[in-house]
Amino acid sequence: MGMYTDKVIIATGAAAGIGQASAIAFAREGGKVALADLNEEGLQETAARVEAAGSEAFVVPTDVGDADAAQRMVDKTVARFGKLDVLFNNAGITSRAVIHETEVEEWRRVINTNLSSVFYCTRAALPEMLKNKSGVIINTSSMSGLVGTGTVAAYSAAKHGVNGLTKSTALEYSRQGIRCVSLCPGYIVTPLTEAMMNEEYKAHFISLVPLGRSATADEAAEFVIWLGSDKAAYVNGSCHQIDGGLLSGIGIIDG
Ligand code: NAI
Repeated sequence: MGMYTDKVIIATGAAAGIGQASAIAFAREGGKVALADLNEEGLQETAARVEAAGSEAFVVPTDVGDADAAQRMVDKTVARFGKLDVLFNNAGITSRAVIHETEVEEWRRVINTNLSSVFYCTRAALPEMLKNKSGVIINTSSMSGLVGTGTVAAYSAAKHGVNGLTKSTALEYSRQGIRCVSLCPGYIVTPLTEAMMNEEYKAHFISLVPLGRSATADEAAEFVIWLGSDKAAYVNGSCHQIDGGLLSGIGIIDG
């Protein structure tokens, strides 16, 4: 028996990075996984890897920033697998500009994709979870959801919002058997970080991390599948750093 035997999971942002690694990890533990993303080619790759891990994949191309599409994603998943146990709200984008040079449209795009999407998918998923009086919602926030981050203000504002939504969701639905938690990654090597960080920035970032390195998407996935499992049954309404100690404080790292 795996941790997710007989469980149905929706993973968004499943075509790459943390979402892809987590989908494969859910599958390895027996979960049936609906894979949502804009990137259909990446979804096919993830589906093949989920099946290679011995489980069932359901590819459901979705723009999570579209409320109707989020509803269709949930409806199609329930039509295919019969229920929904875990929603992993993970899709996200970043965008770099100082505040006075951020276009209003860009602000809206980042808030919509990173924050409103979590509301849309959660809103669509809750009625299914309420039917069974059981469910877990895992939201990917960021270290930028815990502290301000220069040149990514829209992203940071959205990720702070994700943590607020996480806490409110837990408050509203815990008594009905539904947990909600978030993870707040530091520097995880994925296509997103490869695209936004040059070598100098990566080295600087790593120099600030007490553990002295970045993490792999597989390491993040191990944490995700633990958070969503019954082993984490008392973990609720909380926002969890996975950052090598980056936000633990300031000081001399070498001691
Ligand atoms: P990634 O770029 O490798 O994967 C993100 C996926 O989301 C992509 O496949 C992309 O196509 C998908 N996506 C983007 N917009 C979408 C939309 N509107 N609808 C559906 N899918 C969409 O990025 P990564 O690093 O795996 O990021 C996953 C999550 O982790 C994001 O929410 C990101 O903000 C968060 N995060 C990542 C960190 C890192 O160091 N990699 C640090 C902190 C947070």
